[in-house]
Amino acid sequence: MDLIRRMKLLTDLSSLTQWTASCRAAGGEIGFVPTMGALHLGHMALIHAARKACAHVVASIFVNPTQFGPNEDFARYPRTLDQDRQLLAEAGCDALFVPEAGEIYPVGFQTSIHIELGNSLCGRMRPGHFDGVAVVVTILLNRVRPDVAFFGLKDYQQFLLIRRLVGDLAMPVRVVGIPTVREADGLAMSSRNRYLTADERQRAGFLYQALMAARQAYRQGERDVQVLEALSRRILESGGVDGVEYIELRDAQTLEPVVVCRDNNAPVMLVAARVGGTRLIDNMVLSIVD
Ligand code: PAJ
Repeated sequence: MDLIRRMKLLTDLSSLTQWTASCRAAGGEIGFVPTMGALHLGHMALIHAARKACAHVVASIFVNPTQFGPNEDFARYPRTLDQDRQLLAEAGCDALFVPEAGEIYPVGFQTSIHIELGNSLCGRMRPGHFDGVAVVVTILLNRVRPDVAFFGLKDYQQFLLIRRLVGDLAMPVRVVGIPTVREADGLAMSSRNRYLTADERQRAGFLYQALMAARQAYRQGERDVQVLEALSRRILESGGVDGVEYIELRDAQTLEPVVVCRDNNAPVMLVAARVGGTRLIDNMVLSIVD
């Protein structure tokens, strides 16, 4: 409990502004970790990286309505604020910003941000999703004005898109990507894993198996894009995921489809699949060494 009290809870913009001003007066960089809560060890890796790199660490929890489609899980997205505060405090986070929706999107709000990188893969399956991500991340970065912002490579397309956004709009922040934290069987940690039944949880491990198989084949010299994609797809389908949205090999920087694999340009295999009613995503760079 004491730990929790030591972490500042900032529930409105004026307390956030006050806190960031006091950090700037004290000196040292501000590191920022935006999240939607329902925190797990994947999120904590971002906090630890921020803690290591920056004098001041602030996280945010905001379940952003504009990045959910009309038939998606916005209403039932897990909200676990007490547990989240405990985890953040234990990880050494200094402050937590938990804004109300009206402060992020005041009455009359009408701006959108569209980034071409968001048209394919998850963006094709979830129209408008990345516009919602881009706009909320822009607002949060403008409010917090961190020196460094930390994002997970688990959401690979989101990471590239935010890097593009920050670069294109000349936003004065450094964007750092943190490797995916996984469960013992390789399943990427995700707030949505809570939706899985025991049977679904077991089958969800096949996403990782499918990616690992492609990486192993790549390391053994396979360079045919179709062969690599088919190999992963076969494993997903034989392992009993209930629907494959996409499993595609893409350029790791541009996300353009890969025509020919080149050794000096390790591609990334990206997957989205449904297990029961839950949509899961994962990815793996097919590098030659770890
Ligand atoms: P959320 O899904 O809560 O994730 C917050 C951050 O944690 C993201 O940068 C995500 O990539 C990272 N993360 C999630 N699982 C991870 C894992 N297993 N290993 C490493 N990092 C992981 O992503 C969002 O929220 C939202 O779209 C947001 C950027 C906050 C905008 O609303």
